Amino acid sequence: MKIYFAPMEGITDGILRQAHNRIFGGIDVYCLPFHKLTHTMTLTAREKRDISPEENEGLNVLPQALTRDPGQLTDWLRRVSGYGYSAADLNIGCPSPTVTKRGRGSGMLRDPDYLRAFLDEVFSVEPPVSLPGKTRIGYESAEEWPELLALLAVYPFAHVTVHVRTMREQYTGGIHPEAFDLALREGLPHPVYNGDLRTVRDADALLNRCPGTEAVMIGRGLLADPALARRIRGGAAAGEDELKAWYTALYEGWRDRFHATLALGRIKKLMEHPAGEDIRKKRLLRRADSIESCIDAVLGG
Ligand SMILES: Cc1cc2nc3c(=O)[nH]c(=O)nc-3n(C[C@H](O)[C@H](O)[C@H](O)COP(=O)(O)O)c2cc1C
Repeated sequence: MKIYFAPMEGITDGILRQAHNRIFGGIDVYCLPFHKLTHTMTLTAREKRDISPEENEGLNVLPQALTRDPGQLTDWLRRVSGYGYSAADLNIGCPSPTVTKRGRGSGMLRDPDYLRAFLDEVFSVEPPVSLPGKTRIGYESAEEWPELLALLAVYPFAHVTVHVRTMREQYTGGIHPEAFDLALREGLPHPVYNGDLRTVRDADALLNRCPGTEAVMIGRGLLADPALARRIRGGAAAGEDELKAWYTALYEGWRDRFHATLALGRIKKLMEHPAGEDIRKKRLLRRADSIESCIDAVLGG
């Protein structure tokens, strides 16, 4: 089974991808957070760096675009091809209000007629690189999924990642695993399961229920346990030295790239995931003023 590291804007940058691959591994594809395309087609400095081959040396990565304009998408796919990548993802799932109010991301799910016209045009010629998509299962309600699924299944996506939530459910509402079962049954091209895989047991439960699962995408589960992909493949749990090396590499990478204050804020946010619901760890983490005290807060007894 293939394992994708989910794109997480503001978190999964090149520093994190390289450190993760070096220390833990177990990932087939690292997904890049979306590039928000505009009519000028200029990428931000962050986007340019994120997609550059130097930033991703030695990694298998999948860039992603957020747009509702077929011309913009095709131009960007050509650019992605110029960078030497062979596939790029279309974001049809982002639930952020600033994105959906412009009809992008999961905003496209609200208007199936537009989505169909958009995809008709995108696939009217062969895309310059292979094109997967990443979707949610509806805008308002999971009842929209059968119709959306039938719409998406018509197009030659390389694969389709299904985050089994609606736009309304954002990131914390309950998941709808049965929507993935339906995607497998109804012949969506190469569906990739996504949503709340936090433990090896979660992955086993999915595989027991859907033995035909070819691939999964994991986001927050890998922030909480960076060895999760390796463990799903039967490998070792994260050792204390590995975890220390991981948090230190992230902090130092961000400090050298940005600034110590920003790096500390960023690592504290990321370490809320391994701290989980432990009130004491969370309190210590909030008060921490150095990478050492962050590590003590989360890994200390
Ligand atoms: C902070 C944050 C940023 C995200 N950024 C993106 C993004 O740029 N593109 C995207 O397709 N999904 C994005 N997502 C969604 C994740 O890729 C993933 O679909 C979601 O977190 C559910 O998977 P999980 O339960 O394994 O975390 C983001 C999620 C979070 C929490």
